[in-house]
Amino acid sequence: MADIRLEGVRKVFGGKVFAVRDLTLTFPSGSVTCLLGPSGCGKTTLMRMIAGLEEPTSGEIYFDNERVTHLSPSQRHIGMVFQYPVVYRGISVEENIALPLTHDKRLSPAERRARIESVLETLDLAPYAKRDVSTLDNGTRQKVAVAREVARQPRIILFDEPITNVDVSSKMQLKRALKRLVKQHSQTIIYVTHDQTEAMTLADEIALMRDGMIVQRGVPSEIYDHPSDRFGGWFLGNPGMNFIDYRLDNGALVGGLFAQPLRLNQTTEAHILVGIRPERLRVQTTPAPNWVPARVRRSAIVAGGQHLLTLEIDAITVKAKVPESLRVEEGETVYVACDPDDLTLFDADGHRLQARILA
Ligand SMILES: Nc1ncnc2c1ncn2[C@@H]1O[C@H](COP(=O)(O)OP(=O)(O)O)[C@@H](O)[C@H]1O
Ligand SMILES: [Mg+2]
Repeated sequence: MADIRLEGVRKVFGGKVFAVRDLTLTFPSGSVTCLLGPSGCGKTTLMRMIAGLEEPTSGEIYFDNERVTHLSPSQRHIGMVFQYPVVYRGISVEENIALPLTHDKRLSPAERRARIESVLETLDLAPYAKRDVSTLDNGTRQKVAVAREVARQPRIILFDEPITNVDVSSKMQLKRALKRLVKQHSQTIIYVTHDQTEAMTLADEIALMRDGMIVQRGVPSEIYDHPSDRFGGWFLGNPGMNFIDYRLDNGALVGGLFAQPLRLNQTTEAHILVGIRPERLRVQTTPAPNWVPARVRRSAIVAGGQHLLTLEIDAITVKAKVPESLRVEEGETVYVACDPDDLTLFDADGHRLQARILA
């Protein structure tokens, strides 16, 4: 395994499309970093530069201390699994996995066998070992592609949205297999996805990308709970964070979500954006002191058997995720409260503020 270090890496297409903007960061050795961001933000371009399929416009790429910026893909000795499974048709699953290993003269036949058995097992491919890959569905083929790359034990493996083009039924299975795999192996892995739940389950660390830049980097819970800007709050979560605009009133947040003014320790901002995640908003059907009445505009059942409520509090609209057991009808009045610890404060430009709420 090796760490991957980028220094001022930039990629400009046709002199005007800035796909990747001067990135300087390290993907630590032996861990899984999920590169997460919306479509078009530059994820694939970055992977292709690390793989050697694309040359940076400027900047350098290092694997440990070796400069690889201008090396060909084969000189980099890395594994890659991209959106569409690359498999050799007309031969069996086992033979697909064995093929690259036969070029490795340092491996004894017993070691080769052991590696094959191990990946067949981890990826639930043992029952298909003797099957011709041409007869398999797309999801299983993608597993074969993953198995082959993992069995080679390269120092680095790049995954670029490997489950995007897999049918829904195989998606879950492949996701589980990948999770098992990344926990077992200690290769340096970069896993690209636009799917935040995938990133939350697989990553040791998430690098959140937007418009060719890394906006934030951290363990999944850190990015989820403390987004450094509005984008992270919005992009992570299903649905994302609620943002409520406040004009500071004598240094306090007044009205809306809050029954009592919430005083801030210090701030020079005139406008504050208050962020709260839908599942952190507390909702009940009976009134209580310091709970604010809200009208239920919409109630929908979402994944996990929860209710997603759209609530109106005066002129503001927020979403709340509540347990199924809380029975509410559209048009009904409910009562809302929030714990100050669950609030994230942003300035008018969407950058997180260090300002604190005074008890
Ligand atoms: N070969 C190319 N020529 C011109 N523009 C490209 C090329 N490849 C990617 N782009 C552009 O670069 C940006 C980033 O694309 P990409 O890296 O594929 O994003 P992602 O993988 O995050 O969806 C997009 O605006 C895309 O249109
Ligand atoms: Mg892509």
